[in-house]
Amino acid sequence: MKLLIMGAPGAGKGTQATALAERYGVPAISTGDIFRYNIANKTPLGVKVKAIIDAGEYVPDDVTEEIVAARLAEPDCDAGFLLDGFPRTMHQVHFLDTYLSGRGEQLDAVVSLLVEPEALVQRLLARAEIEGRADDNEDTIRRRMEVYAGQTAPLLFHYENKRLLVEVEGTGTVEEVRQRMFELVDARVEA
Ligand code: C5P
Ligand code: MG
Repeated sequence: MKLLIMGAPGAGKGTQATALAERYGVPAISTGDIFRYNIANKTPLGVKVKAIIDAGEYVPDDVTEEIVAARLAEPDCDAGFLLDGFPRTMHQVHFLDTYLSGRGEQLDAVVSLLVEPEALVQRLLARAEIEGRADDNEDTIRRRMEVYAGQTAPLLFHYENKRLLVEVEGTGTVEEVRQRMFELVDARVEA
């Protein structure tokens, strides 16, 4: 099972990714979590990307793609994977398509979590209180929304054209969204 989960910042990707990955018995791979782990541990990668992420910008494609390629090559990805937060640019989309087709593989579904823009900002400000992420402040949130709208939202058309998109209404409680998502993804992958 090879899945992506996409959505604007604050749409609930990380939360729902964990549940979806567990349901299908595949690892949830969050590029944002990998970056934050490296920043917290002050690794060379962390030092390189900290200022970029704190500003709400995207890490260069070649850097992120190398991380993803290395992670997907690990044995726990043999049965599949769920990528959360990747791809975020058209370059990354092509990279992933090429990587998978080189292995004779393809994606099974791309989950898109839909949430109203106003609700997203409220969620991110609430999360700032709980998780203390450096990029969950009002200026950076605004920038992340712009970057998402400009560079990442258009990628949904690519997956829609490939008939992979599963759109899930992301408003409601975590449990409501999870049930809705399970039903839609189950129907898709069983079909
Ligand atoms: O996915 P998440 O929201 O946790 O990512 C946090 C930040 O990591 C993004 O705002 C961006 O700065 C960086 N990132 C990136 N490229 C990706 C994934 C995350 O630059 N593919
Ligand atoms: Mg996340």
